[in-house]
Amino acid sequence: MDREEMKESMAAVEARRKENAEAEPRRMSAEEKEALLAAYHPDYKRSMFTPLAVGPNKGESVPKELAALLQANSRIDPEKVNLSVPDFDDDVLVIGGGGAGASAAIEAKRAGARVRLVTKLRLGDANTVMAEGGIQAADKPNDSPAIHYLDAFGGGHFAAKPELLYRLVSEAPEAIQWLSDLGVEFDKAPDGTMITTHGGGTSRKRMHAAKDYSGAEIMRTLRDEVLNLEIPVVDFTAAVELILDEEGRAAGAVLLNMETKELLVARAKTVILATGGAGRLHYQGFPTSNHYGATADGLILGYRVGARLLYPDTLQYHPTGAAFPEQILGALVTEKVRSLGAKLVNREGEVFVHPLETRDVCAAAIIRECGERKKGIATGSGEGVWLDTPMIELKNGEGTVEKRIPAMLRMFAKYGIDIRKEPILVYPTLHYQNGGLDISPDGSCPNVENLYAAGEAVGGIHGRNRLMGNSLLDIIVFGRGAGKAAAEKARTATPGKLTLAHVKRFDEERKAAGIETNEVSPRLLPTYTHGNPRLEGQGKAF
Ligand code: FUM
Repeated sequence: MDREEMKESMAAVEARRKENAEAEPRRMSAEEKEALLAAYHPDYKRSMFTPLAVGPNKGESVPKELAALLQANSRIDPEKVNLSVPDFDDDVLVIGGGGAGASAAIEAKRAGARVRLVTKLRLGDANTVMAEGGIQAADKPNDSPAIHYLDAFGGGHFAAKPELLYRLVSEAPEAIQWLSDLGVEFDKAPDGTMITTHGGGTSRKRMHAAKDYSGAEIMRTLRDEVLNLEIPVVDFTAAVELILDEEGRAAGAVLLNMETKELLVARAKTVILATGGAGRLHYQGFPTSNHYGATADGLILGYRVGARLLYPDTLQYHPTGAAFPEQILGALVTEKVRSLGAKLVNREGEVFVHPLETRDVCAAAIIRECGERKKGIATGSGEGVWLDTPMIELKNGEGTVEKRIPAMLRMFAKYGIDIRKEPILVYPTLHYQNGGLDISPDGSCPNVENLYAAGEAVGGIHGRNRLMGNSLLDIIVFGRGAGKAAAEKARTATPGKLTLAHVKRFDEERKAAGIETNEVSPRLLPTYTHGNPRLEGQGKAF
């Protein structure tokens, strides 16, 4: 479709806007949803998955890109790492500088532990700051944690680990209070009550937000508190292997200074993995809404020491990534845009799915509309469907966009698009890792003593599809929980002699399975080398 055709399609959208805005789109039946997902959702494209040949999840299928990293070479030669004189020695080592890591560090410190936080970029460079739409908590009179549980359990295809989801929803109101007390400026009505909205799959309005930069506001506050508490932060320093003691308990990590390439040894009584997501692995070639460092590092580190993964084969493709202009391809267009009334419309101006079906269903419907139904709009770099943003002010009155979603207004205004007046083009973007490290409700990894995990590196809290706003919630609930539990455990933990013997063992297991690869992991940063062989080696130079 050229620019002329795009304009014609836009005119068709405009012509049907009023009628579309007033009509309530039909909800799909459970059977329709299952059939749609099976045919169009990327998680169901089994040719893009491969079974693991080694490790705790041996035999289970994961995305090919993840399998390559889980079964790759270590970045270090264990023989050359001197473990006898650690550079750092703490009670609790937190790996990851996003919302989960910061929350964990804050609570561990408040519990009296000596805590250190290491992060491969800077404190706050994380998916947390990219989160826009809000954080769920059932704290209104017409709602309850039980209703929140039912929404999330159904939305996740009844696959969430019940004890994790129970903790998530039960502690949600307290999490909002904790954030408020720390200084998060949630949107409030003139009488001081919190403004809450719907998200896809929610039966009550329980999304608390700070306009459409909720994650940035939360991270701002957490970062301030980490600094106020004088928690040492070691930035531009990545964990490249966990260290165990002779009993097989987590006891620290080998760190890589990202600038000097120097290796450092951190000893700790307990370790918390809070390394975030995997969007920068671009599964199945999808663009991503994730920050630059989202390369699944925690999954790799945990897997090598024997931690199990739960649902590593399930990813979330957010239905509305920006599809045009190309400069913002894959950037998040918050679900709040649909909560406020914008609908998804095809090239002929037809609404083809209820805008607040769960994310996996909406994403699959868009892929079908562009693929089989051929009702997408060519963008120059791909395809998309319209998100009819002018409906928002039609429904809620002038000024709503500026007031409720100013970041969206600005993101498109930079490219001459006024979302109050014209619709925008969207297509699914790789947004969230539903699967990850298996944990107990206190955040501990069941088969590796003294190892904890929190945030997007964890699997099973949301089952096989997460509802909007439950991720900002889980980083707080499980970040805080892991911090408290790791600090408590550190009181009695007495690590033995440090060892990296597991690195050699894993290597032998790989060899026995016939795996030969030049890949090294964790990847740490994405490789955007466009096939240039001279550049391709850069990420593997140490
Ligand atoms: O659409 C959004 O604002 C994303 C929120 C989330 O992933 O929870």
